[in-house]
Amino acid sequence: MRFIDLRSDTVTQPTPQMREAMYKAEVGDDVYGDDPTVKELEEYAASIVGKEASLFVPSGTFGNQLALFIHCKRGDEVILGDDCHIVAHEVGAASVIAGVQLRTLVSNKGELNPQDIESKIRGEDIHYPSTGLICLENAHSNGRVISLGNMSDIYNIAGKNNILVHLDGARLFNASAHLGVDAKDITKYCDSVMFCLSKGLCAPVGSILAGSKEFIDKARKGRKLLGGGLRQSGFLAAAGLVALKEMREHLKSDHENALLMGKELAKIPGISVNLDDIHINLVFFDMSKTDYDVDKLAIELYQRGIKANPPEDGIMRFATNHWVTSQDVYSVVNTIKELIMK
Ligand SMILES: Cc1ncc(COP(=O)(O)O)c(C=O)c1O
Repeated sequence: MRFIDLRSDTVTQPTPQMREAMYKAEVGDDVYGDDPTVKELEEYAASIVGKEASLFVPSGTFGNQLALFIHCKRGDEVILGDDCHIVAHEVGAASVIAGVQLRTLVSNKGELNPQDIESKIRGEDIHYPSTGLICLENAHSNGRVISLGNMSDIYNIAGKNNILVHLDGARLFNASAHLGVDAKDITKYCDSVMFCLSKGLCAPVGSILAGSKEFIDKARKGRKLLGGGLRQSGFLAAAGLVALKEMREHLKSDHENALLMGKELAKIPGISVNLDDIHINLVFFDMSKTDYDVDKLAIELYQRGIKANPPEDGIMRFATNHWVTSQDVYSVVNTIKELIMK
């Protein structure tokens, strides 16, 4: 049975072109620097985000945490939004691996106030931790894309204070598709960036950490320390190259399907969706004003061939991806209508 899988864009399967590229990939031991396919991926990935160098890492979490580990020293403070992935969904790794403390700011739908950031940068005092890094997230996991104006203001403040900016760009190319700009126009406002090859781009495994050559040289050693030295990883890098070369252009249709889903759900009495918040492939909706018990939704959808995560704080999230068609969107919406009317 074919399921429509709306749990995340992480559920994407590799495309036939990726499977072919993986089969044919020329590989070597990448810890010795012998894998030509990984090298090609790392050079290409760095070039499309305008950075000197990049490193293939096993996951987005790995890339973010490696960035914190390399940029900061133990006890440093990292300024970031209270709703960002590093704070909420990385298992507290920042305190375990980099040994940093997180100074969270209340975010306005993912956007941080530049003045707020500036006021939190620590001065010299024997009691204070040092501000080690500022982290931004774009596209945000709340489904919105942060404006370039906001990023630029924060980057200028960081520069003035000699603090580096790391961007969690797990969905960087979704942000660039939404804004209609090149990825470099976003990454020029950060010193390092992590982006995922999996998720909407459909590669089976892997993310990229990019930045200056000096940073990536250190990160390569840090990756080894953390057990992320992958040997014949060219098989995975081959799929990553297809992801970057062929799949970025498809993200727009995932966004269109998400908006379609939002608009169709919003037509159902009692369901509320903020359509202005649907910038990428993520749709959040609230069905508390229907008589339907939202805690049953994931189970009842599953019985009808649709996979969805249970609600978080009463709010449902659907993620569209390359394998979800506009027909699927209508079929999901009709199923929800039937469940509510039942
Ligand atoms: C914004 C953001 N950052 C980082 C990650 C972590 O990526 P991974 O699941 O590959 O560790 C995710 C995953 O969903 C994410 O949404």
